[in-house]
Amino acid sequence: MANFLMITATSGTNLELAERFAAVARDKGHTAEIVDLAEMDLPMFTIARSSDSEQSPDVSDLTEQMIDADAWIVLAPEYNGSFPPTLNNAIAWLSRDWQNFRKMCTGKPVGLATHSGGGGAHVIMAMRSMFSFIGADVIGRALTSGRNKEANPETMDAMVENLAR
Ligand SMILES: Cc1cc2nc3c(=O)[nH]c(=O)nc-3n(C[C@H](O)[C@H](O)[C@H](O)COP(=O)(O)O)c2cc1C
Repeated sequence: MANFLMITATSGTNLELAERFAAVARDKGHTAEIVDLAEMDLPMFTIARSSDSEQSPDVSDLTEQMIDADAWIVLAPEYNGSFPPTLNNAIAWLSRDWQNFRKMCTGKPVGLATHSGGGGAHVIMAMRSMFSFIGADVIGRALTSGRNKEANPETMDAMVENLAR
């Protein structure tokens, strides 16, 4: 049994997709939680803000949740050929605690998924680049869906099985 964390960058169709992934994981006997980064509404990361403890958000619960998870599925819509600021911003805040950041990222099995306006290939590429850079093991298979493309249940199934190994 694996402990999944679904991390969604937005609270709309990508949150719905996160809920579907969580249901697939639970049906297979795993546990699954969802983190909604848009709902967290973190202040924008700047060096000035991060150097001032009164202006820095407490991301220790999120850090713990991400460390404890055996695998993450990260879901984000494509924004201008990349990912939304909520995701970049959260990663920037998390990376300030670099020792725990390394611990949470190194070798973490990560799956990528999107519900985007178009095909979503660019956001998958952008996330693959960032999550590989920070040391995660990003699996090859990813889920793209959008206005004109339903999420393929077989892909969701295969991704959960691959990540739980
Ligand atoms: C600022 C902004 C930029 C966007 N850029 C793209 C884009 O480059 N490619 C694309 O396919 N869709 C783009 N979209 C559409 C979103 O990917 C699409 O609406 C997505 O389903 C939103 O996810 P959500 O329902 O989880 O909020 C953009 C939307 C916004 C708000």
